[in-house]
Amino acid sequence: MSLLLNGNLVRDQIKTECRPRITRIIAKTGRAPGLAVVLVGDNSASAVYVRNKTKTAEELGIHHEAIVRDASLTTEGLLAIVADLNSRGDIDGILVQLPLPAHIDSQKALLAVAPEKDVDGFHPCNVGLLSTGRPGLRPCTPSGVIEILKRYEIPIAGRNAVVVGRSDIVGKPMAMLLLQENATITVCHSRTRHLAGVCRGAEILVAAIGRTAMITEEYIRPGAVVIDVGMNTVRTREEAERVFDAARLAEFDKRGSLLVGDVQPGAMARLASAYTPVPGGVGPLTIAMLMRNTIEAAERRVGL
Ligand code: GUN
Repeated sequence: MSLLLNGNLVRDQIKTECRPRITRIIAKTGRAPGLAVVLVGDNSASAVYVRNKTKTAEELGIHHEAIVRDASLTTEGLLAIVADLNSRGDIDGILVQLPLPAHIDSQKALLAVAPEKDVDGFHPCNVGLLSTGRPGLRPCTPSGVIEILKRYEIPIAGRNAVVVGRSDIVGKPMAMLLLQENATITVCHSRTRHLAGVCRGAEILVAAIGRTAMITEEYIRPGAVVIDVGMNTVRTREEAERVFDAARLAEFDKRGSLLVGDVQPGAMARLASAYTPVPGGVGPLTIAMLMRNTIEAAERRVGL
């Protein structure tokens, strides 16, 4: 039997733990922790993410602002917005939603965020703190994965963990966090040879590639823990037939599209000892960890 790792449950636990910390910050400072989310351009997925982030902040009583600009914003314009947020006493966390329009220098923008307000954990300063094992703000999605593993009491230390994907947002920080938990890590990417064989060596397999159900049966060691960070939409019947079993295929036919991760759902359920479903696995954790990072940033800034 395969254990389904329920990200919604873990998210709710983390949100519950956030509440008294917010109350304590308000008691000490007279204000709630503050989060600013900057959205540039008209990426519809980003707009949904930002809405969900501010909705969760609202629900927890975290002060939130969405700063929305159209795609004509320049790099200098964005840097000015970030500089203003850096200087504000009532803003503890700043997040610049990615991807930014192509003409904006994303590296410059991420570098401009004050490290102590960098609730995404993307600033090189926080990346360095993570890689040297010092306290700092950690990227939300990979730290959410660690929360799921820990709360389900899945041992990490000494195990072979394979991360597929080397993005700055997920793959690289995921590998560093697993290393910090004393896993033996392998990071795979598009140039990795014999990928399926390397993945089959994994006791913990993390898929963060962004390719629809690319990880199939031959990549999964029977009994492995499989964490699917992917979030892809299946829109054609041809692809649905490749990806889904009969029950999900019927659901696809009803809805016309379905979400799927980077791992073929049926293969994962058959072979893994435990796995995160899509949706309802890793996804819900990203926003919960953002809320926790905002609270942590606020606590450090006010000396709690
Ligand atoms: N785009 C996709 N994921 C993320 C994230 O975690 N943070 C930001 N800022 N942008 C993203």
